[in-house]
Amino acid sequence: MQILFEAFEAAPFMKTGGLADVAGSMPPAVKALGADIRVMLPKSSLIPAVYAEKMTYITSFFLNVAWRNEYCGVFSLEHNGITFYFIDNEKYFYRGQLYGELDDAERMAFFSKACLEACLHLNDFAPDIIHCNDWHTALTPVFLREFYRDTKLGKARTVYTIHNLKFQGLYDPYIIGDVLGLHNTPADAQLRQSRGYSTCCNFMLGACLYSDRITTVSPTYAEEIATEYFGEGLDWLFRKRKDRLQGILNGIDYTDWNPETDPYLTANYSIDNFREEKVKNKTALQADLGLEVNPDIPMFAIISRLTEQKGLDLVTYLLPHITSSNMQLVVLGIGDNRYEEAFSWYSNLNSDKISAQIKFDNSLSHRLYAAADVMLIPSRFEPCGLTQLISMRYGTLPLVRETGGLKDTVDNTTGFSFVTFNADDMKYALDCALDVWNNKREEWEEKQEKGMKSDFSWDTSAQTYLKLYQDMLC
Ligand code: GLC
Repeated sequence: MQILFEAFEAAPFMKTGGLADVAGSMPPAVKALGADIRVMLPKSSLIPAVYAEKMTYITSFFLNVAWRNEYCGVFSLEHNGITFYFIDNEKYFYRGQLYGELDDAERMAFFSKACLEACLHLNDFAPDIIHCNDWHTALTPVFLREFYRDTKLGKARTVYTIHNLKFQGLYDPYIIGDVLGLHNTPADAQLRQSRGYSTCCNFMLGACLYSDRITTVSPTYAEEIATEYFGEGLDWLFRKRKDRLQGILNGIDYTDWNPETDPYLTANYSIDNFREEKVKNKTALQADLGLEVNPDIPMFAIISRLTEQKGLDLVTYLLPHITSSNMQLVVLGIGDNRYEEAFSWYSNLNSDKISAQIKFDNSLSHRLYAAADVMLIPSRFEPCGLTQLISMRYGTLPLVRETGGLKDTVDNTTGFSFVTFNADDMKYALDCALDVWNNKREEWEEKQEKGMKSDFSWDTSAQTYLKLYQDMLC
């Protein structure tokens, strides 16, 4: 079985969020089960030179997208036992950022079609399954059906995974003809969606209609998106295609995230000695960040994109309460101004209690997972969430809102939780955590131990994906 896995970002090449972690770690796990899975990515200027310099040129051709005729190169690189192909076009992919460009629709249309065209130029690769992810590659199943039926890809089946329904790729319908070249095809009507008073072209709608199967990254989120509150205007479609929709929980890379061997930690530890060793990471980080150095003060952490999805409105609302409680808070991440400013402001006023690290810093994130006692993840919605999985592996108790993957992976034996998106409810959970820390240390350690023992590696989920691929070919 040959599988093409398409994504617009993958660690360690380029990353803005969890999609990159999944695209970097899920294919090797599926490959370990014996499938020939290869990944296609854009050859972005953000890829560090250590990787870019090692890539091999394979082929190039010109690709038609609507009236455009664009150069398209294909490079490859073996990494982690996987063949990664990189689609090259400097005009589209040599930008200072991955997303947020005025011509994103055109860039994604080019990429989604180029992945298919590249397969026609690779002699040893004729995927039976094409697995697309998020809105960036949503047009591949559409192009496949409209333009590639008479090629060697004609029989390929498609899986479409939604990592985040918030971003669907909504554009003015004029692009259906002018940018996508899909006028006078059945897709012209299928891609249109009326929203409010106007009609738009919706990339993700196209993927959901044209793919053989739809998956999302946790069972609870698969149910939630079929409701109006979480459905982002597509809930009707998920209700209609319920028999084709499945939630498969993400895993994490257990080699990257292992407190026993993690090279960034001050003190490595395992399930056998975390009671004595973990705290050394905390005191070292307290000193480095200018917080009060005291092993008895619980350290709460946030490692996140600082966006509305992540429930930071609740946290900023609680900042006065946090400042007046006997606890510390370390925030690591970048994002919306209003959150960056709120955390920086409070950290300036209380520099021994609150530390705002407004940046993307991989080594600090490893140190913080090990140093913290509690990880705050009060998301409004969370398709899966990887932070809580890593936290549990590091003996750091997650405090989560019960939604999506958070609900599927954390309970009161491994962390703390609340249901309603409300700051008072979160405050209650936070005070519970402080109470257990101060008065019931044995219970605390039981939760740590249970979390550290849980298995959130890719093993189980990779098997579920493989079974899904196999079922589709029957
Ligand atoms: C997105 C989601 C997150 C999920 C990740 C990987 O970033 O917001 O919940 O874990 O994708 O699937």
